[in-house]
Amino acid sequence: MVKLRDIYYCSICGNVVEILNEGQPALVCCGEEMELLDPKTEDSTTEKHVPYIEEIASGVLVKVGQNQEHPMLEKHFIKFIEVLTADKVYRAELKPGDLPQAEFPVKKSEIKMAREWCNIHGLWKS
Ligand SMILES: [Fe+2]
Repeated sequence: MVKLRDIYYCSICGNVVEILNEGQPALVCCGEEMELLDPKTEDSTTEKHVPYIEEIASGVLVKVGQNQEHPMLEKHFIKFIEVLTADKVYRAELKPGDLPQAEFPVKKSEIKMAREWCNIHGLWKS
């Protein structure tokens, strides 16, 4: 059964879908069941993906990664960063050439999860 806020991926066409309301038990795209993305939490290579949350005056700044910026190239970049609280989902949509970071008007103490999706390396959370 799909769950609220779960993110699914179609390995055939590249569609990424977030559940806003729980309905059917599975999602189908391109004639195949979509893959439920299980966010990774630890970087094992030099390239960093885990979102790093920093408090700023207006809320939080979420960076991908902490000390070394993830590439933001045409073929390899962070497509979105999300911050999830108990009852809200904030999402920043990024494009190649942007900085791999986003500001959100939310208190760090309210955040249940920050996550981001890299078009090559998938979903990551902290
Ligand atoms: Fe990546």
